[in-house]
Amino acid sequence: MDTIPIYLIVTMTENGTIADKGVIPWSIPGEQRYFKEHTLGAAVLMGRKTWESLEYAPLPGRLNIVLTHSGTFSAPGAIPVTSMEEALTAAHAASLAKRELWIMGGAEVLNHAQWLANKAYVTVLHDHYAGDTKFESKRNGKITDHTVSEAEIEFSRTDLPGSAPTKYTKKLRYTRVVIDYDVLKRR
Ligand SMILES: NC(=O)c1ccc[n+]([C@@H]2O[C@H](COP(=O)([O-])OP(=O)(O)OC[C@H]3O[C@@H](n4cnc5c(N)ncnc54)[C@H](OP(=O)(O)O)[C@@H]3O)[C@@H](O)[C@H]2O)c1
Repeated sequence: MDTIPIYLIVTMTENGTIADKGVIPWSIPGEQRYFKEHTLGAAVLMGRKTWESLEYAPLPGRLNIVLTHSGTFSAPGAIPVTSMEEALTAAHAASLAKRELWIMGGAEVLNHAQWLANKAYVTVLHDHYAGDTKFESKRNGKITDHTVSEAEIEFSRTDLPGSAPTKYTKKLRYTRVVIDYDVLKRR
């Protein structure tokens, strides 16, 4: 079986937070477009909890693969698998417009599967967000692409107890990096 490139794609804070209580606590303009540009036509692998956070709707134009320990899990529109090996076999067997497997989260799957990845596409937010779900990146690689951007985002805050939340905007700075893990292997 020939190999298929494996990429991680994740948006996180500087301390690795990717979600809080089952939801992503930010909304960045252009984020979905960036994700789609990279993953469209390819296979995406997600954990069972991320699948549920999508409300069981497969991402269109991609082969959706859901990792679970359950051998009887049903995920209409997606392929349930119980191991990374099975996920790779499913991605290989599919007829994909783009022969790539994108590991899209959540944290448990990223933490488990990071060792298999050839590259990581990481967006780091330079702002504080409370979170209980963290990607613990343990690998070294070479940063091959690095861009710093700023977006104007909306947020709500309750300033006085009992009052309705007020909407504000603020500038959010974020850095996008591409990390090539294979560079170290090639040395
Ligand atoms: N910021 C981002 O870029 C980003 C991206 C994606 C998701 N998210 C967020 O991340 C959150 C979910 O993350 P999470 O870490 O709680 O859950 P998750 O990784 O999405 O799913 C965890 C589940 O995946 C299955 N699983 C994990 N490793 C496995 C293995 N080695 N073998 C078999 N099955 C395995 C298990 O399912 P079973 O329990 O069924 O066995 C496990 O409970 C959601 O809030 C989502 O919105 C954020």
